[in-house]
Amino acid sequence: MIDLKNKSAIVTGGARGIGKGIALKLGSLGANLVIADLNEEQTKACVEELKGKGYKAIAVKCDVSKEEDAVALVDACQKEFGSVDILVNNAGITKDTLLMRMKKEQWDAVIAVNLTGTFTCTQAAIKYMLKQKSGAIINLSSISGENGNIGQTNYSASKAGVIGFTKACALELASRGIRVNAIAPGFIATDMTAAIPENIKAGMINAIPLKRAGLPEDIANAVAFLASDASSFITAHILDVNGGGFLPGGGH
Ligand SMILES: NC(=O)c1ccc[n+]([C@@H]2O[C@H](COP(=O)([O-])OP(=O)(O)OC[C@H]3O[C@@H](n4cnc5c(N)ncnc54)[C@H](O)[C@@H]3O)[C@@H](O)[C@H]2O)c1
Repeated sequence: MIDLKNKSAIVTGGARGIGKGIALKLGSLGANLVIADLNEEQTKACVEELKGKGYKAIAVKCDVSKEEDAVALVDACQKEFGSVDILVNNAGITKDTLLMRMKKEQWDAVIAVNLTGTFTCTQAAIKYMLKQKSGAIINLSSISGENGNIGQTNYSASKAGVIGFTKACALELASRGIRVNAIAPGFIATDMTAAIPENIKAGMINAIPLKRAGLPEDIANAVAFLASDASSFITAHILDVNGGGFLPGGGH
């Protein structure tokens, strides 16, 4: 059984969507939670909901693309809970458009949050994890990082970068008791994918062998496994959670 009692977990982009689903799951397994997000109001509301369920949780306003925010985030976790055991690099954005129309700002923004944000938080967290000689880091990649996707050159590159970063970190940190894995979700029903037109969404779901959109809980279950001792011999792994589908031109 998965037990995360007395473990502290930082979830970036934890105010809503997949991140909130992860926070709820890790809290239900006993973890103490640090919810880090740009959106202060939603972060506070999420923390109130977690506390209402009897979980220990704090909110930290944070832009993961800023190194000083990442350092302050991890320090807040250490100060509040006395350790930094689990880091979930979940914060992510899209700025979709065809390459021929993409502005450099759209490229830079997506790389800054999805890839650089994963770097800043990981580097800050391992300062404590190396001392502890333990830790589990779970990065959110995407099916688009594995396959590429039309209109998502920036996003696909950032999420492919997360895969390379995950594997290199895992090799560097394995001897210090720190495991680093990634999850590559397929189509998951959240605010991020809500903007996709209904007819396109229906086609994407139809192309998924399990014939449904994924839910934040589907990703949260995988994160709980990778965060726990149940996966103690797993590192440098990219876990597909996509309903069986490597969709041509589908998924975020
Ligand atoms: N929804 C999907 O189908 C899908 C598929 C594959 C991968 N993913 C990945 O899963 C993760 C979560 O996706 P989601 O669908 O829940 O997205 P979402 O847009 O619903 O939530 C993302 C959260 O991240 C926060 N955030 C954005 N920029 C930030 C920053 N600079 N610093 C801190 N927080 C920031 C937002 O405020 C928001 O609360 C992302 O990394 C996304 O790329 C999603």
